[in-house]
This record gives sequence, structure tokens and C-alpha cells, in this order.
Amino acid sequence: MKTLSHLIMLSALCLPLSLVAQTKSNVTLPQDKGPDKIDVSAYPAPMQANYKLFTGKCSKCHTIARPINTMMKEDEWSRYVKRMMHKPNSGISDNQGKEIFDFLVYDQTNRKDKNPKSFFPALSDEEIDKLKKGQ
Ligand code: HEC
Repeated sequence: MKTLSHLIMLSALCLPLSLVAQTKSNVTLPQDKGPDKIDVSAYPAPMQANYKLFTGKCSKCHTIARPINTMMKEDEWSRYVKRMMHKPNSGISDNQGKEIFDFLVYDQTNRKDKNPKSFFPALSDEEIDKLKKGQ
């Protein structure tokens, strides 16, 4: 009896894990291999707080290096944060999405735009689909 209840407990534990695994992005994009940290010590305090939120929330399904090394214009970030928020189990509220968006735009303007060659342009949906099929 003991073994059976252990088994039931174990499968109850594994179910949420496998659900999380399904939402993981199963492709590696070029920008995933870049640095996975930003030195935000010179950023204003509210942006440093938003950075923490960003690294916590945006690393759930793919490496945080992905957004850290992707270049986007403000309207593309807006669209993208919404798209990420609406993925199943994203765990990002409207308010949190707004704070993350503010951080991404600040970081885009103050870090990426000054050194565009160090970062990757966003891939189109077609390019991502191709990568997904290739694996
Ligand atoms: C629920 C899972 C999930 C979460 C949470 C998530 N992403 Fe993603 N992300 C993906 C998937 C899957 C892809 C691959 C493209 C696609 O299927 O949309 C992706 C791709 C990307 C890309 C690559 C875009 C390109 O065209 O090169 C960027 C940048 C990105 N995510 C940023 C973020 C940011 C910023 C956050 C936090 C607001 C975030 N992601 C949170 C699943 C997620």
C-alpha cells in the first residue's frame, strides 16, 4: 500500500513538471548563446527593479540570454512582450508585462542601440518555424 501511495504522489508531482516542459521553447536561437547578464549598476533604481522582474519572468521557457541579445524597436518589444504573456502558463500579469516592457525599451535605447553590432536582429516567424522544423 505504501508503495502505491508513493507512486501516486510521484505521478502527481511529475504532471506539472511535464506541463512546464511542454511550454519550453525547443529551438536554440543564435542569441541564446550570447551573454546571460546585463550590468545594470548604472541604471536608475526602478529599472534595476524591473531588471530583476525581467530575469525572473523571461527565463521560464528559454534562456534569459535570448531577450538580452535580441534587438527590437519599441513597437516590436511591445508586441513581443504581449505575445510572451499570452503563451500558456507564462505567469506574467499585465502590470508585470508593462514593467518588463519599460525595462526592455530603456535597455534597448541605453545599451543595445549604442552598440548594435554586438546583438542579434529578431528572427521572423518564418525563420523561427524553419529552425523548429530543422530539429
Ligand atoms: C511561456 C513560455 C515563454 C515565456 C514566459 C517567455 N517566452 Fe520568449 N519565447 C518563447 C518561445 C516558445 C519562443 C520561440 C518563438 C515562438 O514560438 O514564439 C520565444 C522567443 C523569444 C524571443 C526571440 C524573438 C526572435 O524573433 O528572435 C525573444 C526576444 C523572447 N522570446 C523574449 C521574451 C521576453 C522578453 C519574455 C518575458 C516577457 C519572454 N520571452 C518570456 C516562450 C516564452
